Amino acid sequence: MHALLNVAVMAARSAGNILIRKMVNLDKLKVEQKGQNDFVSDADLAAERAVIKTIQRHYPDHAILAEESGAQGESDTVWIIDPLDGTTNYLHGFPVFCVSIAVQHKGRVEHAVVYDPLRQELFTATRGTGAHLDSRRIRVSGLKILGRALIGTGFPFREGGAELSPYMDMLIKVIRHSSGVRRPGAAALDLCYVAAGRLDAFWETGLAPWDLAAGGLIIREAGGLLSGLDGSENFLDTGHVLCGTPRIYRALAKLCAKEIKAIVRQ
Ligand code: IPD
Ligand code: CA
Repeated sequence: MHALLNVAVMAARSAGNILIRKMVNLDKLKVEQKGQNDFVSDADLAAERAVIKTIQRHYPDHAILAEESGAQGESDTVWIIDPLDGTTNYLHGFPVFCVSIAVQHKGRVEHAVVYDPLRQELFTATRGTGAHLDSRRIRVSGLKILGRALIGTGFPFREGGAELSPYMDMLIKVIRHSSGVRRPGAAALDLCYVAAGRLDAFWETGLAPWDLAAGGLIIREAGGLLSGLDGSENFLDTGHVLCGTPRIYRALAKLCAKEIKAIVRQ
């Protein structure tokens, strides 16, 4: 395992252990609201501190972009961190959340870790060497027929009223043409489930770079296609993403071309 990936794994495991410990006393957690339907708790903050401490012990000169504390340092190498992806789930004791860490070098993600501390599942990838779940190599599913596909998504929960409508049009179409749609609630894990063949495709809008950076590499290394909703490469900036097995990705892009145009135009 590459030295950088090894440190990312150590950091993710230490954050995961904190999340599990703090979950025992959920009602004692201090929670603040950052925005509409957007929360941060002591657990997010403690997990993020643990990740940053581990990274800085090994690579004090690297830069960091973390969900709760923002950007620090200047370097060609940037660690992109979500210490708790799925905060809303976590705060309700809904058992779907993870830690997500990506290592970006000169603008390209080179290493990725997504850790689910409840199931103790560790998804990893290093660019050019494939994706793994624990020590097992993973690949996207071989499914070719949209009508048999299980599709993941995330609802645009921060937006209200009119902005919801093009998303809902797309959702209705996908429900009608697939075998089912799931909204688990932790985007980084959703991406890994596509990589592992548990979902055949996934789309969401309004995501942040820390939700997407690690899972994005893991999908591509697992043989999946991933882009902005409109096929663009700048999904880390726009936060709109579509990914899946090559066939299902293309089928969804074609089926929902009109709705996607309306979403992207907003
Ligand atoms: C959220 C989760 C959720 C997605 C949101 C994200 P957070 O991340 O990934 O599934 O729908 O858009 O913000 O806030 O829990 O780290
Ligand atoms: Ca988070």
